[in-house]
Amino acid sequence: MNKCRHLAIIMDGNGRWAKAQGKPRTAGHLAGADNVRTIAIAADQAGVEYLTMYAFSTENWKRAADEVNYIMKLPAVFFKKYMQEFIDRGFRMWIIGELDALPAATRDVLMDAMEKSKTNTGLNLIICMNYGSQREILLAAKAYAKDVLEGKADLDITEEQFEDYLMTKGFPPVDLLIRTSGELRISNYLLWQIAYAELEFVPEAWPEFTPEVLNRCLEEYQNRDRRFGGVKNV
Ligand code: FPP
Repeated sequence: MNKCRHLAIIMDGNGRWAKAQGKPRTAGHLAGADNVRTIAIAADQAGVEYLTMYAFSTENWKRAADEVNYIMKLPAVFFKKYMQEFIDRGFRMWIIGELDALPAATRDVLMDAMEKSKTNTGLNLIICMNYGSQREILLAAKAYAKDVLEGKADLDITEEQFEDYLMTKGFPPVDLLIRTSGELRISNYLLWQIAYAELEFVPEAWPEFTPEVLNRCLEEYQNRDRRFGGVKNV
């Protein structure tokens, strides 16, 4: 049976879910943020150690200004509601992405959540904000090249050593990637980290992705035959 240490989720379908209920897209994002808490608790209870959530991509800036502004304000709402509970549950918050490009108030809230939970040893809840995987790999390559030029790194490094330049430094590889809402895409998410991940695409929109659906996904994952490029054991 496979253990899912690191679960990554592409939380898709907030807008469609809201529209189907005659609500504005932003209502979908609010319900989506609340569901981050629900699923983090369920994932923790299922033994997941790292939960990485795609909240805002480098491409999401193309959306209407009102929607972008709303998503930028969500972390403040989210952590005001749930931070104390996360601390009590021992969750450690991580935020990855290019945080410098975020509004200062959003960045402050995110940095504060990381700071306040940095001694916690429970579930690692990783929120990706202004994150894009190609950018992440490019920035890592640049940082590595700089280290080589400055004599701080050897030209001959391993994959494991290169991982120290990624934003996910210190996290194990992704075991299972789930995308909600029926789209069959990776959308520039954790391209390096999902090299050997199992993939699951579910029809439910993110706000209707319940702990039951999560547990079904984990059960299916546990029964997958993971060979990591090797040969099936018979
Ligand atoms: C995708 O649905 C969702 C997003 C781009 C935003 C996700 C953000 C959250 C769930 C909020 C999380 C925030 C925090 C701070 C925890 P979509 O809008 O692309 O849906 P659609 O495909 O139906 O239009």
